[in-house]
Amino acid sequence: ATIHDQKLHRGAGGELHQFAEDGKPVLTTAQGGPVSDDQNTLRLGARGPALIDDFHFREKIFHFDHERIPERVVHARGYGAHGYFETYESLAAYTRADLFQRPGEKTPAFVRFSTVAGSKGSFDLARDVRGFAVKIYTQQGNWDLVGNNIPVFFIQDAIKFPDVIHSVKPEPDKEFPQAQSAHDNFWDFISLTPESMHMIMWVMSDRAIPRSFRFMEGFGVHTFRFVNAADESTFVKFHWKPKLGLQSVAWNEAVKINGADPDFHRRDLWQSIQSGNFPEWELCVQLFDQDFADTFDFDILDPTKIIPEEILPVKPIGRLVLDRMPENFFAETEQVAFMTQNVPPGIDFSNDPLLQGRNFSYLDTQLKRLGGPNFTHLPINAPKCPFHNFQQDGHMAMRNPVGRVNYQPNSWNQGPRESPVQGYRHFPAEEQGAKVRLRPESFADHYSQARQFYISQTPPEQRHIAAALIFELSKVETPVIRERMVSHLFNIDETLASKVGHALGFKSMPKPADAAMPTRQDLEPSPALSIVER
Ligand code: HEM
Repeated sequence: ATIHDQKLHRGAGGELHQFAEDGKPVLTTAQGGPVSDDQNTLRLGARGPALIDDFHFREKIFHFDHERIPERVVHARGYGAHGYFETYESLAAYTRADLFQRPGEKTPAFVRFSTVAGSKGSFDLARDVRGFAVKIYTQQGNWDLVGNNIPVFFIQDAIKFPDVIHSVKPEPDKEFPQAQSAHDNFWDFISLTPESMHMIMWVMSDRAIPRSFRFMEGFGVHTFRFVNAADESTFVKFHWKPKLGLQSVAWNEAVKINGADPDFHRRDLWQSIQSGNFPEWELCVQLFDQDFADTFDFDILDPTKIIPEEILPVKPIGRLVLDRMPENFFAETEQVAFMTQNVPPGIDFSNDPLLQGRNFSYLDTQLKRLGGPNFTHLPINAPKCPFHNFQQDGHMAMRNPVGRVNYQPNSWNQGPRESPVQGYRHFPAEEQGAKVRLRPESFADHYSQARQFYISQTPPEQRHIAAALIFELSKVETPVIRERMVSHLFNIDETLASKVGHALGFKSMPKPADAAMPTRQDLEPSPALSIVER
């Protein structure tokens, strides 16, 4: 045999294994063609022009040129890990969701933590909300609980989402500031949006600069429904409680960490999981019915409100353990597609207008970001239970119906069938009303819970909130925006408002903001604002 022959090996199935001279597998093109030289392009003479025949060069550069996909329009910077969810006890009385039926049963899960505003390459310790998105691969399909580390949100209606996000992202002409809220556009929007005040108190608190992902709470935010086998519904709010407790850094630490190690949070998660120190959270629920909901002044459909745990304690129903890092960041963490509308039978939505809008938005965004309708063919997004449907074709289709039948009903007695018994049944809530664009009066109180949050903080935590507001608003160049913000603070806590106002050098304090819901007229730009327009 020649040397050439010794480097070939034919497998049992006839496949040809080719080895390079040092015994490593031969480098191939994406088409499987063996490559002889990966160091030099094909040229006409050693110093001559490149040749168009060089299909290896062309393919290599083409693939490289297409490596990037759009970063997420929000939550672009994230870090994920695999693990499992373990159920503590049967919740059959409340929900027919299969994952909550048998104590001790484990269900695989993937979690992605993220910041909201910064780009993919921004730093970990930005003052920001953290995403806490959990995909649980249940035997009845994937359940995505796409939450944050703060239990409320900036806005009450999803139609305002592009506005709040545009305002927090870099300004369109300057493309700065990056990854921080400290600028006029953000505070302009916030100061014109009183419903954001509760969220703002959380974002100015230490919650927005967590010590690590392992020391963060997570929240489903919205009111959801559990629905049991008898089609009875119970309202539910979801909370993740970290086993290690809550910890944050101080702002001056955050600033230094961002400079010294922008990957501080991802490094922490990587190192803890690689060293066998698996982070853990308990899934807790607040369960209640309509009569209980009716006892509140606020609306349980309003995502700017919490149900205080003193009034309705949380009940632990299981735990989430993260014990394995992805093998490939892009394939798993970058390509994972979370969608609030992914719910198994037994979990249903409420009429929270933010949730309803999200249920519409996520499918759209995944189609754009992952380039077509077949993103569920990616292993990270595929269900881990048996699944059957007649979807076919489209870009990058990995799965197509097998055989003749790709529709139902059919006369060939082939393929899957729908099942009213096993299948997802939407809770038959009775609804009626006029078709209107109207914010309900029950969504009108924007300050009580902001105040409750502030006064629930310890004195050092309250000082941090004041310092954060002073720092942020001192970056705001437009006086009327600062004044408007302080006028809102007067509706939350007078001492806080005066402290911030004095630190900003106000000669006199503004009147408390009008606590009534703003009308469209109130939102007209004031003359003062047009003066400072760039
Ligand atoms: C992404 C949470 C409101 C649209 C995300 C992610 C989280 C999240 C955690 C990142 C998922 C990941 O790690 O891949 C929330 C929470 C909200 C909220 C807790 C309010 C309670 C909204 C609203 C909309 C929206 C109102 C639009 C109407 C999006 C979009 C993405 C996203 C487009 C990017 C998804 C992607 O490209 O993968 N959200 N979000 N979100 N969210 Fe939200």
